[in-house]
This record gives sequence, C-alpha cells and structure tokens, in this order.
Amino acid sequence: MPYQLKVVDLSGLPPADGILSERERAFYETLRFPKRRTEWLGGRFALKQLAAEVFGKTDLRQVEVLPHESGKPVLWVGGDPCHLAFSITHSSGYAAAAVSTTNKFLGIDLEKTEHRIEAWAKDFFHPSELTDGSDAFLTALWTQKEALVKLLGTGLSLNSYEVRCVNGIPQFFGSAQDAYSALGAPEISVHTCELISGFMFSAAYGNRVSGGR
Ligand SMILES: CC(C)(COP(=O)(O)OP(=O)(O)OC[C@H]1O[C@@H](n2cnc3c(N)ncnc32)[C@H](O)[C@@H]1OP(=O)(O)O)[C@@H](O)C(=O)NCCC(=O)NCCS
Repeated sequence: MPYQLKVVDLSGLPPADGILSERERAFYETLRFPKRRTEWLGGRFALKQLAAEVFGKTDLRQVEVLPHESGKPVLWVGGDPCHLAFSITHSSGYAAAAVSTTNKFLGIDLEKTEHRIEAWAKDFFHPSELTDGSDAFLTALWTQKEALVKLLGTGLSLNSYEVRCVNGIPQFFGSAQDAYSALGAPEISVHTCELISGFMFSAAYGNRVSGGR
C-alpha cells in the first residue's frame, strides 16, 4: 500500500488532553479561532493514530506534531525527530492525515466539491489542465495541485501555474521545478477519488528513482 490514511469527523473529537503533549498544548493554546483549533487538533488526532500504529506507541502524546516556520509541521516520536513521510489536510468538518512507510515523499488534500466561478478556474489552473469544466473535475484538480505543493513542501509560496497536473501527470515549472529538483526529482504518482460523498481527495506520493528510501 503506498500510504495509510485516516479521516476524522471533527464533530466527534476526544478532549485535547489525551491527544497533545505539553509542547503541542502550549502551541494549541495560542490558536484563538475555534474552527482553526478544531482543525489543528483533528489533523493531529488522525496523524498521531497512524504514526502510533507504525511505531507501536500506545499513548498518542508520545507522537508529537510540532509547528515549523515552513507551514509543514515536523514529527517527533518518543522524544526524537522522525522522518516518516506524512501529510495533513482539513475541509468542511473533516480532517485527514496520511503516512507512508514505502514512500519518502507524500502530500494529501481533501476539498468539498462546490461550484466555483470560471474566473477562479482560469486564475488558478493553467489552460493545459482544464480538460473539463465540471465542479467535480475542478475540485479534484485543486486537490491534486495542493497535494503536490504539500509533497514539495513549498505551500503558498508558489504561483499556481508552476505546479500543474495534466490528466493526472504532475508537471513543475519555475520555482516548483527548483523545489522538485532539490528533492532529487522523485517519481511521483497522483491518486484521486471521491473519498467521502461530496468531497474530492488526492494523494501525491513517490520516491527518488535511484536510492529509494
Ligand atoms: C499548504 C497549503 C496548500 C494548505 O492548503 P489548504 O487547502 O489551505 O489547507 P489544508 O487543510 O488542506 O492543509 C493544511 C495543512 O497543510 C500542512 N502544510 C502547511 N504548509 C505546508 C507546506 N509548506 N508543506 C507541506 N504541508 C504543509 C499543514 O499540516 C496544515 O495543517 P496544520 O496547520 O493543521 O498542521 C497552502 O499552500 C495553502 O494555504 N494554499 C491555499 C491555496 C493555494 O494558493 N494553493 C497553491 C496551489 S499551487
């Protein structure tokens, strides 16, 4: 299996006390908006369950997901930094996380399928990507792009034309190409599905061709 995935319904989260370490708790307390707090906690709850399973931990507080200036958090297990590939997403009442023990690079994204205006699509997607105009297609394309920028680790810093997904095949340009080369130009697969009714999901994952993990 290329990755393990866990989805959580944000309306049924257990109390933060049983999920967060002291270091995480200190950051959590600085989040002022209830929606952001719930999403932040939900993503961690999903990721911690997956990582605890991989590393045989029974206490979720032994898996820490700590903030980093890049936006992508860092994972610590049993008090040590850990290089397990992981990614987090949240959307409209759900959070999801994925880990991979077989791929070095991973990015995921979940988005609710909604109608968006044509101008948005033209702004966000390169013409070569727009092979369909349906809401489901455009939402799926959005998740593919976001999964790819998470895999690259660049987040918001890119122009959205620099990361393209044409018929499921990733293409990188400009600073995205630089970020991709810096990772060692891994071979990337993109998997897209309607994970929950009304929500599109994509996972981008891969390894360097020579060396692997
Ligand atoms: C990283 C990014 C893609 C987040 O997307 P989003 O749809 O707003 O948010 P999601 O809920 O799907 O994902 C948020 C999670 O992504 C992760 N993340 C944030 N920055 C990241 C980065 N640089 N690399 C990898 N993962 C990152 C974090 O775990 C975050 O959750 P947390 O803060 O609770 O830990 C960000 O670039 C963004 O806000 N994009 C907005 C749209 C955009 O312009 N996209 C560019 C497409 S080319």
